[in-house]
Amino acid sequence: MPKPDKHVFVCAQSRPPGHPRGSCGEKGGADVLNEFMNAQQMRGLFNIQITATGCMGPCPEGATVLVYPEGVMYGGVSKEDVATIIDEHLLGGTPVERLLMPAEIWS
Ligand code: FES
Repeated sequence: MPKPDKHVFVCAQSRPPGHPRGSCGEKGGADVLNEFMNAQQMRGLFNIQITATGCMGPCPEGATVLVYPEGVMYGGVSKEDVATIIDEHLLGGTPVERLLMPAEIWS
């Protein structure tokens, strides 16, 4: 198996309706994950590893996507944003500014 150039973690966490933290699941996390998986297959992007994860912390800002090796975290991601993340960041090397989590998320 070749070593991936990028590793994309997509939060697919769900919580019961009305839970105070909410979840990426209720914000379309599963749709985002499926869109990444479909695009990978359709475009042959097998140098990119895609992994479904549980909660990564900033639930109110979901759906959340984290890209390594850069450690870039995106928030409010919808399935319509996936092609942009692939084209501009994963292939183009430039993170998508409008989807970046605030820097304070890491403090
Ligand atoms: S549920 Fe996705 S970051 Fe917490």
